[in-house]
Amino acid sequence: MSSTYPNLRLRRTRATSWSRALHRENVLTPADMIWPLFVTQGEGQEEPIATLPGVSRWSVDGIAARAREAVALGVPCVALFPNTPADKRSDDGAEALNPDNLMCRAIKAIRDACGEDIGILTDVALDPYTAHGQDGLIDEAGYVTNDDTVAVLVDQALNQAEAGADIIAPSDMMDGRVQAIRIALEMNGHPNVQIMSYAAKYASAFYGPFRDAVGSRGRLKGDKKTYQMDPANGEEALREVELDLAEGADSVMVKPGLPYLDIVRRVKEQFEVPVFAYQVSGEYAMIESAVAAGAGDRDALVLETLMAFKRAGCSGVLTYHAAHAARLLNA
Ligand code: PBG
Repeated sequence: MSSTYPNLRLRRTRATSWSRALHRENVLTPADMIWPLFVTQGEGQEEPIATLPGVSRWSVDGIAARAREAVALGVPCVALFPNTPADKRSDDGAEALNPDNLMCRAIKAIRDACGEDIGILTDVALDPYTAHGQDGLIDEAGYVTNDDTVAVLVDQALNQAEAGADIIAPSDMMDGRVQAIRIALEMNGHPNVQIMSYAAKYASAFYGPFRDAVGSRGRLKGDKKTYQMDPANGEEALREVELDLAEGADSVMVKPGLPYLDIVRRVKEQFEVPVFAYQVSGEYAMIESAVAAGAGDRDALVLETLMAFKRAGCSGVLTYHAAHAARLLNA
C-alpha cells in the first residue's frame, strides 16, 4: 500500500541539492561516452564541418592528439570515420581494404600515442569509400547487394583488426555480416576483438551532417531504405538485435538516439545485454542550432540529453559532445 498526500510529499526529497544527489537514480560519467572523430588526409590539418558546428575533421596527427585528450578526460573510447580523398573512391570501395588507408593510419597513430589506454572503435561499411556513397556494392539496377557486400565487409573488418582496432562496428545493415565477421576474426587470430553491431539502424533524416563530414552526401543518389530500417518499426528492431546477438555481437547499438529511446528500452528489457545508442550528427546539429538561436543552454541540453540515454538503459552513448560533456562532468 502506498501512502498518499500529505503523508507522501514527493517534493520533500527534492528540496535540497544534497537530497537530490542522494536520491538520484542514474549517473552519467565520462566513461559512458564514445567520441566519434573524422579523419582527413595531410598533416596539421583541421577542417571545420559547416553543418556540425564545433566538430572538425583532423589529419592523423590531430586524431592522435584528440585521443590523448579523450584519455585525459576519462572518455574510454573513440570511433573513427575517414573522409576518403575523392581520387581514392571507387564503385567497389576498394580503398576500404588498403592497409595504409586513412582509417588504418589513424588507428596506428592512436595506438602509438595512447597504448592500451583507449579503445578504438571502427566503422565497417563502404560509404566513405564508394563513388556512389552507398554502404555496399551496387548491381546494374542500383540495388545494394547483400552477400557480395558482406564478403568485402569481412575483409574491411580484418583490415581494421590487423591495424589494431578494438571494436568492429558494422554500420551497413547487411544480413549475416556479424556472423561472417566474427568467424573471420576468430580464424585470423583476433579472438578478443569485439563486435558492436549497429543492430537497429534506421533510414533516418538525421545523418545529413555526417554525410558532409565523410564526403558522401553529394554522391549519394536516392536513399538507404533497402537496407536501413523503416522508422515506423519497433518489433523489427528486436529481430535485428536477436539475430546479431546470435551471430556473435558483443554489444548492440540503436541509431539514431533520442528519437528511438523506446527501442533502446525495449532492447534492454528483452535481451539484458550491453546496449549503446548513437546520438547522431543531426541530433547534435539540432542542439547546436537551438543554442545558436538562443532557445536553450548548451551545457544543460547536452547533459540532459546524455542522461536520458542512461535512464533508458544505455551502457554508453556515441556523441559528438563527448569531450565537452566530459569537461563539464569533470569540473
Ligand atoms: C555509415 C554511417 C552513417 C552514420 C554512421 N555510420 C551514415 C549513414 O548510414 O548514412 C551516421 C552517423 C551520424 O549521423 O552521426 N554507414
